[in-house]
Amino acid sequence: MRFFGSKSENLVGLDVGSSAVKLVSLTGGRSGYQLRAVGSELLPSKSIVDGAIVKREEIAEAIRRIFQVQEVKSDRVSTSVSGHSVIVKKITLPVQTPEEVRESIQWEAEQYIPFDIADVYLDYHVVGPTEDGSQTNVILVAAKRDTIDDHSDVITLADKMPMIVDIDSFALHNVYETNYEPKDEEVAALLNIGASLMNVNIAQGQEMVFTRDIAMGGDYYTEYLQRDLGVSYEEAEEYKLGNAPEELQVSVSSVLQSVSEILVLEIQKTFDYFRTAAQFDEIQTIYICGGASRTEGLRDYLEETFQVAVEFLDPFKNIAGNGVALPEEGSRNGFAIAVGLALRSQGDGPGQGSASGGAGGLAGLVDKLKQMTGRS
Ligand SMILES: Nc1ncnc2c1ncn2[C@@H]1O[C@H](COP(=O)(O)OP(=O)(O)OP(=O)(O)O)[C@@H](O)[C@H]1O
Ligand SMILES: [Mg+2]
Repeated sequence: MRFFGSKSENLVGLDVGSSAVKLVSLTGGRSGYQLRAVGSELLPSKSIVDGAIVKREEIAEAIRRIFQVQEVKSDRVSTSVSGHSVIVKKITLPVQTPEEVRESIQWEAEQYIPFDIADVYLDYHVVGPTEDGSQTNVILVAAKRDTIDDHSDVITLADKMPMIVDIDSFALHNVYETNYEPKDEEVAALLNIGASLMNVNIAQGQEMVFTRDIAMGGDYYTEYLQRDLGVSYEEAEEYKLGNAPEELQVSVSSVLQSVSEILVLEIQKTFDYFRTAAQFDEIQTIYICGGASRTEGLRDYLEETFQVAVEFLDPFKNIAGNGVALPEEGSRNGFAIAVGLALRSQGDGPGQGSASGGAGGLAGLVDKLKQMTGRS
């Protein structure tokens, strides 16, 4: 469930990834969305390293440029972070009322977070009472202050206002939910495979039941091609996109395949872990998105390994084009996170929908989390 007040203003979704910045702006609300603008700008390599923003000015410049080129007037943005500085955990608290949850969450959280509690922003979402009614299931979110502040600052540097800092995996869930309207019994895995990182979600109906980030992505393919074929970064990147000289094509395919095997093994471990950690039905469909999901052979290899249908997630499936040119078919699913972020509106934030399921409304991290953790 998300909590779009139809009166509140849609935010501009801005996905600052390690290889590119992607922007999506939508109008409308739950009863129907229309596309207002969509665009992306590649970033110089190593702009973001291990989730930390390195080339601040270059990223800010790319943000300014997309707004200009796409003629986006609004400067109110929702953005997201992911990776090892973000923790999402389902926990059970030995309390019942919302007040008790609020009072106990801070110190209960400490045992689940491998960072100093003073260094994180905290948020939570009440899922509901446990079966016997004596305790409460809560989704706990903690994100390193440095990471959130870094992301907010680079957006401010580009003269935009970061209204919501979300988590990639929630944006991924929201884009899926809005476009595919899954039924209760449908179990799907969502994979957003970016340049440096992969978000793995499991959705049961409209609910997000599991999420994990894996620090691997498209960069892996490039690095292996560089190393195994002794070529430059630029050449490797080109080869990966299908532009290898003919005499190298067989070797390129074989390197791509071996990297796919490494990635898929990690995905398999994650699915296995999820199976032991949660009771759930078998995954029926795997939806893939993110630039690296288009790597030659990867989709087929996923299908072969898991023996379920693997589909490219179309983030614009349920969104009216409204005369705005959609990105070409092959690159559309790279905008999944940006669309997920553009579904957020200004009224969203923690505490707003804390009695219902789903992932939305969770992470209005910028204002609310600062308040919760006592930072002004
Ligand atoms: N057609 C393609 N085939 C293979 N790889 C591709 C293709 N198009 C893009 N990529 C790769 O996808 C990656 C970029 O994807 P994406 O834009 O989703 O990442 P990002 O959001 O910038 O990164 P991250 O989320 O990891 O910080 C790069 O590694 C790029 O080389
Ligand atoms: Mg990304």
